[in-house]
Amino acid sequence: MDGFNINDAIFPEPAFLPKSVSMKKLDVLAKPLPQQLIGVYNITHVRAFVSVILSENTTPLLSSVISMLKPGGWLQWEEMKADFIILAEVRSQWK
Ligand SMILES: C[S@@+](CC[C@H](N)C(=O)[O-])C[C@H]1O[C@@H](n2cnc3c(N)ncnc32)[C@H](O)[C@@H]1O
Repeated sequence: MDGFNINDAIFPEPAFLPKSVSMKKLDVLAKPLPQQLIGVYNITHVRAFVSVILSENTTPLLSSVISMLKPGGWLQWEEMKADFIILAEVRSQWK
C-alpha cells in the first residue's frame, strides 16, 4: 500500500510502518502526475480532502485519483459531516 501526501514532514518513520506500506511525497493536484503512478492501483482512497478542493471544483482531484486506477479499479472517498464542529477551549498549558 502506498500513502501519499504533499507534506512528507508528517510521514511516520518507516520503522513504524508495516513492510507493505510506504509513504511518498506527491502533489496529487500536479499535472501531469508521475507516469509510474498511472493505472497501477486497484483502489485509491481519499479521506478528509474537502479543505484541499479549490473553488468547489472536484475535477482536478478526481481526474488524478481516477487516473491512478487500473481499469475496473475503485475509488473510495470519505469525508466527515462537518456542518457542526465544536472547538474546545485552548487551555493555557496547551499553548
Ligand atoms: C485534513 S488532512 C487529511 C489527512 C488524511 N487524509 C487523513 O484523513 O487523516 C489534508 C491533507 O491533505 C494534504 N494535502 C493538501 N494538499 C495536497 C496535495 N495537493 N496533494 C497531496 N496532499 C495534499 C495535507 O498535507 C494534509 O495532510
